[in-house]
This record gives sequence, C-alpha cells and structure tokens, in this order.
Amino acid sequence: MKIPQHIAIIMDGNGRWAEQHNVIRAKGHENGGLAVQRAIDLCIEKGIKWLTLYAFSTENWGRSKLEVSALMHMLGKYLTERLPEMQQKGVRLHAIGELYMLPERNRKLLRECMDATADNQVLHVVLALSYGSRQEITAAARALATKVKEGQLQPEDITPEMLGNHLYTAGMPDPDLLIRTSGEMRISNYLLWQISYAEIHVTDTLWPDFDRADFDEALESFASRERRYGKR
Ligand code: IPE
Ligand code: IPE
Ligand code: MG
Repeated sequence: MKIPQHIAIIMDGNGRWAEQHNVIRAKGHENGGLAVQRAIDLCIEKGIKWLTLYAFSTENWGRSKLEVSALMHMLGKYLTERLPEMQQKGVRLHAIGELYMLPERNRKLLRECMDATADNQVLHVVLALSYGSRQEITAAARALATKVKEGQLQPEDITPEMLGNHLYTAGMPDPDLLIRTSGEMRISNYLLWQISYAEIHVTDTLWPDFDRADFDEALESFASRERRYGKR
C-alpha cells in the first residue's frame, strides 16, 4: 500500500465532542490530547515520517479567555508530561507559528522539548501553534522584500522554492495527505502554500474520537488516489 510520508491534520471537533458528552469544552480538548497520542503511535506503527498537527490557530486567540487559558495550560502540561515518551519513541518535536505570542512558560517548554528531541529520527511531529498560513506567507514576503531593499536580492530572482524556504516549514517536506475531522469542508488558514498537491480526506468523526479505524480509512483513501500533479 502507498503510504504518505507526511500527514497534516486539522484536529477539529473538540467542542462538539464536549457538547455531545455534556462536559465543558476543556474536557473536549483534554480528550483531543489523548487522540494526539493515538495518532502519533499510529504514524510510528505505519512508518510515516512527518505529522503536522493544527493545535491552535492565530484566529483561535479570539476565543474566550477561559478557553484560551485552558488550551495554553494543556499545552504546558502536555510538553512536560509527554517528553519522556517522545524520547522513548524517537519522536522529534518541531513547532511552527507565531510562537512569540505564546505564554513565556510554554515558549520555554517548547524550546526545551525541541532541543531534547533534536536527534530523534523515528517521527517528526510538528505542532502548529498560534499558526496562520496567511500570516506565515506575509512574513516570508516581508523577509524577501527586506533582502531586495538591502540590495541582496533582485525581484526577478525570487522563485517558489525561495519563498518556501522563508516559511516556518522551511526544510520540511510538503504534506501528502491532509485530514480534517468533524466534517467541515474548509482549510481554516492552514498550510495554504504547503498543501498545493496534498490529497484531502475529511471525516465526520470528531477529533477526540479519531481512532485506528478512522486512521486506516484515511490511509486507504490516500492509497487509492492517483496523484497527477497536473501532468496527465
Ligand atoms: C478544535 O476543536 C481544537 C481547537 C481549535 C483548539 P474546536 O474547539 O474547534 O471544536 P468545535 O469545532 O467547536 O467542535
Ligand atoms: C481549525 O479549527 C483550527 C484548529 C484545529 C486548531 P477551527 O475550529 O478554529 O476552524 P473553523 O472556525 O471551523 O474554521
Ligand atoms: Mg472547530
């Protein structure tokens, strides 16, 4: 079976899961965290090398103070508690997004986790945190414009590869498969540049319920696609 090298996931539906179970939204996010562990284990089992997870968008800062602080608290807890497991499983952690927006404590924990796992090679896990694709592309445009202004670069020498190398994802392969849970048929400002040729799989399953069967279904769907890249 054809296996994607890189899977990107829009982990949506924690709120609806909480509603269904009559619990507060934070509980939905907590169970979403368990689904993250499950997805990581499944990727390792299948030999997938890259997993990029949309954990918090730039736009998510607009949610209630209570929800934002619950999510930030969960992130800190996750990074603290899961580090030994990442080490044991050979997971290398990366982060993309406007990380300077995160609370100081989380920035520090992220830095520590990324440094500690820097030599791991089994699976690269990329957390998209305070991430927005338009913001990312704008920052790249700004960096290139600065180089032009300083005379280091001519506008006509700017290529797609060069722009890609100024994104947070510089050096990472593009996703082959994009999964969105909870049924919404939209991209929500996620990896707009990088998913140019990704295959898209949307499932109605809510993220906290996303399990082996859903994962297998996504992989089977991917394996059945003919990727043409515009060539035939
Ligand atoms: C996704 O679940 C998690 C984050 C955006 C942090 P939601 O919180 O968006 O869940 P729904 O869409 O309200 O069900
Ligand atoms: C996308 O989900 C962001 C994350 C999964 C972190 P949202 O729930 O924020 O997106 P919309 O509001 O449905 O577009
Ligand atoms: Mg949502």
